[in-house]
Amino acid sequence: MAGLDQAPAARAGQGHLSAPDEQRIREAIRAKYVEVARSPAGRFLYPIGREGAEKLGYDQAIIDRAPVQLLQSFCGVGNPFSLGGIALAHRVLDFGCGAGFDMFVAGNSVGPGGLVCGIDLTEDMVVRATDNLRQAGMTNFEIRQVDREDIPFASNFFDVVISNGAINLSPNKQRCFAEIFRVLKPCGKLHFADVILEKDLPSHLIGSLEAWSQ
Ligand SMILES: C[S@@+](CC[C@H](N)C(=O)[O-])C[C@H]1O[C@@H](n2cnc3c(N)ncnc32)[C@H](O)[C@@H]1O
Repeated sequence: MAGLDQAPAARAGQGHLSAPDEQRIREAIRAKYVEVARSPAGRFLYPIGREGAEKLGYDQAIIDRAPVQLLQSFCGVGNPFSLGGIALAHRVLDFGCGAGFDMFVAGNSVGPGGLVCGIDLTEDMVVRATDNLRQAGMTNFEIRQVDREDIPFASNFFDVVISNGAINLSPNKQRCFAEIFRVLKPCGKLHFADVILEKDLPSHLIGSLEAWSQ
């Protein structure tokens, strides 16, 4: 099993990882999501694609409007839009946009006067999302590939930051939240769907790169 080198506290997620360990984690996550960008089928324990979106309570009318390829690639752990509406003409950032389904949903709320931006660690996801959203007829979007938790947008720029199953994958959550709060306008909104640990990891998973990228 591939593993990490850092001290026990950091391995258990209670401390800082070394820069090389952070990088190893990002590479493992990227390798997994290169595969997911080709097809998410069979790679998750939870439903993905149309079935996943329907189970998570996404608006049926939006699901029905989504191009097949865009919907097939959906792999969210929850529904960030269940936390409240997003207003017309707002600017939205999707942290970990994957193949673009959540950006498409946000685009339906903000309309042509708004802007939907996405960032992703995995270049194949950026390419896939760009193709998918163009095919869906969206024009008011920007997607950028990132190498770590730095967000390549101006401070106080977004009205809403959404994320769906990406923050748990970040090996530097402090930096991740610092950057999210930097780009969010004062009184802006956060709509996150994610997974959290409720108890300590079993010992065979502590320090496992595979566990980070699941
Ligand atoms: C579960 S998927 C997101 C699903 C997506 N919102 C959708 O509509 O299908 C998580 C995404 O987060 C990306 N990711 C993981 N760690 C990241 C990080 N530190 N910064 C940005 N993106 C990250 C992965 O490459 C992956 O595409």
